Amino acid sequence: MHSLTARRLLLLVSGGIAAYKAPDVVRRLRDAGAEVRVVMTPAATRFVTPLTLQAVSGQDVRVALFDSAAEAAMGHIELARWCDALVVAPASADFIARLRAGLADDLASAVCLASAAPLLIAPAMNQQMWQHPATRENLDVLVARGATVCGPASGSQACGETGPGRMVESEAIVAAAAALFAPGTLAGLRVVVTAGPTREALDPVRYISNHSSGKMGYAVAAAARAAGAEVTLISGPTRLAAPAGVTLVGVESANDMLAAVNDALAACDIFIATAAVADYRPASASENKIKRDGATRTLELVPNPDILANVAARDDAPFTVGFAAETNDVEAYARAKLERKRIDMIAANHVGGELGFDSDDNELTVLWNNGRAPLARASKPALARQLIELVATRYRASRGTGGSA
Ligand code: C5P
Repeated sequence: MHSLTARRLLLLVSGGIAAYKAPDVVRRLRDAGAEVRVVMTPAATRFVTPLTLQAVSGQDVRVALFDSAAEAAMGHIELARWCDALVVAPASADFIARLRAGLADDLASAVCLASAAPLLIAPAMNQQMWQHPATRENLDVLVARGATVCGPASGSQACGETGPGRMVESEAIVAAAAALFAPGTLAGLRVVVTAGPTREALDPVRYISNHSSGKMGYAVAAAARAAGAEVTLISGPTRLAAPAGVTLVGVESANDMLAAVNDALAACDIFIATAAVADYRPASASENKIKRDGATRTLELVPNPDILANVAARDDAPFTVGFAAETNDVEAYARAKLERKRIDMIAANHVGGELGFDSDDNELTVLWNNGRAPLARASKPALARQLIELVATRYRASRGTGGSA
């Protein structure tokens, strides 16, 4: 575990029963060497007193946004600038929603909005609230903006229910806070990721495409960025915003994507192809809108370039990672693809059930030459982080750089 010596952490305590664990979080963060200040939401003061947190932090605890004496001592903007990282523990469903919306009408939310420091979120709530699409979507947005989520754990809850939503133990929060300051496993490396569908024009208003949402690729790009890489995301049309700190290059067709990839490949260390590239395109696209005339039409299709295989075949090929979506015999087909395309690693998943193209969760089996790692069902951002750790390990092994990048 990395030390938190001399790190300035602002602990934001929001209103939930897990707030009673906040004093222990403070104590352990301080044991790890951090200087800790605490801001509470008004609701949090119903579960644990400011006096308790003042005693364990050794600092005044702030609650109110409009407290002129406290603002004079250290204003909310100064607090936001003072900290090296923000730790929200516990993070209630309401507080997560406020962070996502960028609200600033209480001190804790205002400090988060005013700070550029890394944000660690330890959710704690009833399991139904955790599983609600609103909460899942709010967290996905925060992760895409660069936040780190720690937990929640599963188990029996204060409300009498059982399921995911318990705040993780203090040790896990301390470890996650320390990891915010550790150099990423891809620090100093350049990563190019393809994502989303491609659109193959039939005429100026029509195209052939597929249902790819781009979620997995955007999550992979965000995870690579969080691991310290310089990331270029080359994406077909999606409804997603570029992850924070990632350079987005928007493309339409497979040929556009190939050209953008070739442009981005100079000094690229790792290439990850998550895009659902159309296998075929119309032999020719009509310059004008094709008119309906009642006649039967035949569409001539020609194969698109295989972008991943093209990259892997280069003399100066980076470490290449592909995806394989299969409906059956997933692992056998994926391994055949790994060999045929001569790539370094492939992440295979089963499509056709509830998981796959537009779902929020996924599960993967990652294969490489004489190795495999199954990654159990999880959200796409969580899976992407695990995948990136595997990529980092295999990248270093393939480049013979052992334990450090
Ligand atoms: O051959 P298949 O389409 O199943 O291979 C999937 C993998 O190859 C994915 O990583 C995808 O991004 C990549 N691919 C590509 N260019 C294509 C087709 C697939 O880069 N034309």
